[in-house]
Amino acid sequence: MKNLAIVILAAGKSTRMKSEKSKLFHSLAGIPVITHVVREAVRLRPQRIVIVIGKGERTKFESILGKNQRIEYTVQLDALGTGDAVMSAKQKLRNFDGWVLILPGDVPRIKADDIAAFISEAERESVECAFLTTRHPAPASYGRIIRDTDEKFIAIREFKDASSKERAINEINTGIVVARSEWLFKRLKCVRPTNAQKEYYLTDIVELADCAAGEKVAAYCHGLYDKYLGINDRIDLADVNRLVYREIAEEWMRKGVSILEPALTYIDADVKIGEDTAIMPFTFIKGKTVIGKRCVIENGAVISDSRLGNDVHVRPYTVMEKARVAGGAAVGPFSRLRPDAILEAGVKVGNFVEVKKSVLEKGVKANHLSYIGDALIGAGTNVGCGTITCNYDGKKKHKTTVGKNVFIGSDVQFVAPVAIGSGSTIGAGSTITENVPPGTLAIARARQVNIVRSPKSGGLKSGRRKALNRR
Ligand code: UD1
Ligand code: MG
Repeated sequence: MKNLAIVILAAGKSTRMKSEKSKLFHSLAGIPVITHVVREAVRLRPQRIVIVIGKGERTKFESILGKNQRIEYTVQLDALGTGDAVMSAKQKLRNFDGWVLILPGDVPRIKADDIAAFISEAERESVECAFLTTRHPAPASYGRIIRDTDEKFIAIREFKDASSKERAINEINTGIVVARSEWLFKRLKCVRPTNAQKEYYLTDIVELADCAAGEKVAAYCHGLYDKYLGINDRIDLADVNRLVYREIAEEWMRKGVSILEPALTYIDADVKIGEDTAIMPFTFIKGKTVIGKRCVIENGAVISDSRLGNDVHVRPYTVMEKARVAGGAAVGPFSRLRPDAILEAGVKVGNFVEVKKSVLEKGVKANHLSYIGDALIGAGTNVGCGTITCNYDGKKKHKTTVGKNVFIGSDVQFVAPVAIGSGSTIGAGSTITENVPPGTLAIARARQVNIVRSPKSGGLKSGRRKALNRR
């Protein structure tokens, strides 16, 4: 939008959150609250975006929002209220002449289209300033919109300053304001902290408008209050999280993803999912996970920052982090894929199998109770139940390399570093400490002894005992 500067209020003490960090850094559908607001602000294509932050917080904001050239920061030295916060941006905007849109950093469900419509309304009506308001069925601590008997907007009363009659009003201030820059800073200069919280309230500019001189301050009431919920404490955070997760689930369902129970499916904001994938309840799909088409994600799966190809089957209670699973593979139930687990096409990883920093080439099967770490398992190899790569010697990690089409019997330990040639067979119960050439059978375990017991004494026959002692 032409002639638009956005000021995002992101300083403040977050007292009600009872947290060491700002409420704006808490996670909302997997990304910080503030990121939601900044993304919508960017969608409005303003000329300027200025974020008001607290002292010493710049690095944290930059790490969250990235070093974006288009975002400017200004510091509010002390959290003296929303009016003071906007004033902190005055210097940055000294050469700007146009609309200033103020967005509270803690109202994250806004949509750029709604805000654009709100600004157009203010422009059409040639007002100095407009507040976006809504009707809330249980308005709690929001600022109340005061109108006179002719319904003319005359003030905003903060909850702590409001009389019981004023508290009964359910039209509330969303905190979203648009104002002409010159007028805004002129009026803000006159705001005084004479209220219950001893703060400089942005909302006081309403009463400071010079109506006699024709200055117009409007309040535009929009429906759907839940789009404008603010996050002040952890109860608000839980409520808004629920709504955002629901919204994300609906978006994916519209794009062809089946979700059996959206209320119990948590898909983060930056996840991507292909058509005809089905997701069962109690699943968490987190971070920047990308899931292909026709996958099935069964109940209890927790998938973070992973990439799944098409037709992948994730069985119940599988946990994955930074893993890559190619088309047609199946994982779980109860499998754990840790960072850099790479499963190629058609791989099967079954119950109680943990894979870390390893490549399982095409068609590998590791169906039960294994640990595969720092390994390369060649295509077509069968990893028997209970196979373990002993990758750690107490100081360093070492690699296990297994060739193609190897048959690994059950309960085998590979003491890394070790390499197994293609086409070989490893006998069950072997502890492999040396390389195995291709096409060979390796067995490394104590030979079995069957001892006949004397039927009379219940013990061993004496001759047999002597023979054993000689061994
Ligand atoms: C504010 C409004 C209230 C409105 C509500 C909507 C005022 C005085 N009150 O109340 O009318 O109904 O939002 O959600 O404006 N901030 C700063 N510096 C400060 C104080 C706050 O940057 O000194 C930032 C906060 O980080 C937050 C935003 O401004 O993102 C709003 O502040 P908050 O303390 O949450 O105000 P509310 O009590 O919610
Ligand atoms: Mg708030």
